[in-house]
Amino acid sequence: MRKGRLAALAAATALALAPGGQPASAQRSTARPWMDTSLDPDARAALVLARMTRDEKMRLIFGYFGTDFPPRDFRAAAEARQGSAGYVPGIARLGIPPQWQTDAGIGVATQGGARDKRERTALPSGIATAASWDPELAWRGGAMIGSEARSSGFNVMLAGGVNLSREPRNGRNFEYGGEDPLLAGTIVGAHVAGIQSNHIISTIKHFAVNDQETGRDWVNVVIEDAPARMSDLLAFQIAIERADPGSIMCAYNQVNGAFSCESPYLLTQVLRQDWNWPGYVMSDWGAVHSTVQAANTGLDQQSGFPFDDQPYFAAPLRQAIARGEVSPRRLDEMARRILRSMFAHGLVDHPVEIGPIDFAVHAEVTRSAAERGAVLLKNRDRILPLSPETRRIALIGGHADRGVLSGGGSSQVYPIGGNAVPGLEPTSWPGPIVYYPSSPLAAIRAQAPNASISFDEGSDPAAAARLAAESDVAIVFANQWTSESRDFSMTLPDDQDALVEAVVRANPRTVVVLQTGGPVLMPWAERVAGILEVWYPGTSGGEAIANLLFGHANPSGHLPITFPRDESQLPRPVLDGVGLGEDQPFSVNYHEGAQVGYRWFDARELEPLFPFGHGLSYTDFDYARLRADAGGEEVRVSFRIENDGRRAGRDIAQIYVSPVAGGWEAPKRLAGFASVELEPGAEREVSVTLDPRLLAVYDSPSREWRIAAGEYRIMLGESSRDIAETVTVTLPERRLPVGWRPTR
Ligand code: BGC
Repeated sequence: MRKGRLAALAAATALALAPGGQPASAQRSTARPWMDTSLDPDARAALVLARMTRDEKMRLIFGYFGTDFPPRDFRAAAEARQGSAGYVPGIARLGIPPQWQTDAGIGVATQGGARDKRERTALPSGIATAASWDPELAWRGGAMIGSEARSSGFNVMLAGGVNLSREPRNGRNFEYGGEDPLLAGTIVGAHVAGIQSNHIISTIKHFAVNDQETGRDWVNVVIEDAPARMSDLLAFQIAIERADPGSIMCAYNQVNGAFSCESPYLLTQVLRQDWNWPGYVMSDWGAVHSTVQAANTGLDQQSGFPFDDQPYFAAPLRQAIARGEVSPRRLDEMARRILRSMFAHGLVDHPVEIGPIDFAVHAEVTRSAAERGAVLLKNRDRILPLSPETRRIALIGGHADRGVLSGGGSSQVYPIGGNAVPGLEPTSWPGPIVYYPSSPLAAIRAQAPNASISFDEGSDPAAAARLAAESDVAIVFANQWTSESRDFSMTLPDDQDALVEAVVRANPRTVVVLQTGGPVLMPWAERVAGILEVWYPGTSGGEAIANLLFGHANPSGHLPITFPRDESQLPRPVLDGVGLGEDQPFSVNYHEGAQVGYRWFDARELEPLFPFGHGLSYTDFDYARLRADAGGEEVRVSFRIENDGRRAGRDIAQIYVSPVAGGWEAPKRLAGFASVELEPGAEREVSVTLDPRLLAVYDSPSREWRIAAGEYRIMLGESSRDIAETVTVTLPERRLPVGWRPTR
């Protein structure tokens, strides 16, 4: 973005800023036949489109940043919601409301530069929700933040990040759903469906293969069609079919030589021809590079001006239409897709209104989500849960006296009560670093009123070790802030490894609570007694952590991402593009194809630190009677789970599959899972239908999913490396079209 040109560009596009307005009430009307709610959204979109002028159509396809942005001489429209990500004017005379867009995945965000922050409820990070392996929980969280968006005056949420965590150092892994396409697609899809249950639109993003932040604006991702369909694109495909999102956001990066927002492969072939998806494609903020190419390949709405160099879809598009380079029919299609989604998702019939929010109820929703997303990685001699009788507890590090960490960038939600630890660097984009004022120390004190609980901030390992030595148990909080726009080393910052080592040397009864965006290295893992990964646990995180430590909540999260032992185990031990500027184009070659995460570790027989799917509980589960029935079209797997421990708990049963004859990219794939809650002593028969695409290999020439006839192992396990039972089933050959979707 070249700054000097902006004022002129803003003037050139001023026309499109004409104010929109609130819609008239949704009713039958001959004057406005598109308000007839008995018509389907396609018919309604066609009716209103027929009454629109070219200027009005163009207004719908061009979005502005929702916040004043002095570095680019930009002032948001009066009608925009200050502090928000975006605004697209409405068409008041036709009853079409503006689109008020807000980030995103964990709640209603405020853009960092905005003066007044909207203080809202934040869920735990996306990866924590994925760690619950529970689509119902993801739906509930989505429904809650969608209701806050609605009550804050937003009708478009830019949530739904489903980029595969192919790169564990990606600074945005905390926003995504992990490394497996079935798990990520299922969880993110449910989350978006929950958001949209509020009569608002959500996106699925960032389409596609936007798997690292280093050089994200210009990196060229090289990946072949078939492996892409079986990894990153499958995650999108599943999320889209589960969520029915109104919109998809195309990404910053290039894929196989074309920018995502002008890629005929992504936008025309995959989305429209193969998946037959009816919604509209919006660009990421600053991801557009052309007018004619972008419009003709399938971008429907340019977002967030002035983040792009040019208002490509304003005056330049008008000129391109005049020159015959973009057809008026294509403009109609762009506007029609946007209108269709607005009708389909209730934006016209249920206009948003700013109103009250029940923060007390929402605090409970996010607390229980944090409890359900936490993963107990290690629990030697059952050091956890802590007994309420524990007398001396040392709490060390991680600002645990003041609050819990959150991830940075455009998705940043600001909490009620403000930042608990202000002033940490970076204080501006992609910061500030925000701690939510939900103090683990205060919550732990409330749970153990008779214990003596001391806090040491952890900056001096020797002092922390002295405190640990005189305590019955030491709990070290080890944090890593990660954010959009950067990638991060997997080594904990600020010498926290040395702190943990010093503490565990002083007291072997040491438990580490990790607040991280994704996997980190743990050179001390063998020596500490307990490890609890709570990710970024959201605005009730302190209470959730205390409940988990004392056993008022029983951990049930399982890893949605592999934790490597070190970087040498990764497909790319060194990240591509580090230190390169925008004028230094580079490619990242995803040569590992669909061998993402555990599939890579399994194929190479590498021993991870903690495998995909791993997670402990305070109770024990037992599996029995695994059966697989391939009689009908689908493979149905059933088994019994028993809770044979002494506490109520939730098990995550995972079904992996593998052809006996081999021939896949990896020894096994996740093909189904179930989250089952059981009282102590209780047992339940569980049945899971496998997604046939996980039993297939995608064939590019025929554009089909092909299941080869033969024997398949069906494995039931507690993780990808802990398989309890295996049965074999014989499958006939089966072919599914590229756009196959399950009937639910
Ligand atoms: C991010 C998107 C976000 C948009 C609007 C971009 O920087 O990549 O995820 O929705 O900004 O804030």
